[in-house]
Amino acid sequence: MIVMIDSANLEEIKYLFNYFPYDGVTTNPSILKKENRNPFEQLKDIKNIIPKDTMLHCQVLSKNADEMVKEAEYIVEKFGKDTYIKVPVTEEGLKAINILSKKGINTTATAIYTAMQGYMAAKAGAKFVAPYVNRLDNLGYDGVQVAKDIHTLLKNHNFNCKVVAASFKNSQQILELGKFGIEAITASFDVLRNLYIHPVTDKAVNDFCNDFEKIEDNHKTMLDY
Ligand code: E4P
Repeated sequence: MIVMIDSANLEEIKYLFNYFPYDGVTTNPSILKKENRNPFEQLKDIKNIIPKDTMLHCQVLSKNADEMVKEAEYIVEKFGKDTYIKVPVTEEGLKAINILSKKGINTTATAIYTAMQGYMAAKAGAKFVAPYVNRLDNLGYDGVQVAKDIHTLLKNHNFNCKVVAASFKNSQQILELGKFGIEAITASFDVLRNLYIHPVTDKAVNDFCNDFEKIEDNHKTMLDY
């Protein structure tokens, strides 16, 4: 499963990459707003601190298809052809995804709340489709199920498009999707760290260290022997 960081915070991104080779960084306008800085400067700095073959996803703000296309081309010009342009699945967005895919520009269809929006975006040529799992749960729908339904649709219709499930609140939502074979997720700093941090593992490590130190005074690790 592709695992990406949903953040534009340089410290968070650096921290996470220090421990694990994540596959990409996804941003949206609200995430960029949190950094309160020229978004191009912020994205440039992100691009500079992530490994070379790591994906960067950046969203357009225009609401009209032609403007979305211009904005996407501008972003690609600044950050390279390997950038994924996030386009919300509105009617104009679908049109833009189709135009961009014909121009060979990678798109990530975003703000997806129904399975059919995911299907239509894939059919329009999106490379990734992003259902908002937790936002769906908050609305009283089953976000995990919507993401699974899109995955099934894409597989059954042989689309060259992956679900990148987004908007998570907890590990359980990601576990459910991983078991189902969802190909990609993007999650915030805290949700990502909670995928592997476990207090009982830390306790086990401390117990092992305490036992080892009892073998011989001042001998804390194998290096001391
Ligand atoms: C991804 O495309 C979205 O920008 C993001 O995952 C939304 O997450 P949120 O619901 O935590 O804001």
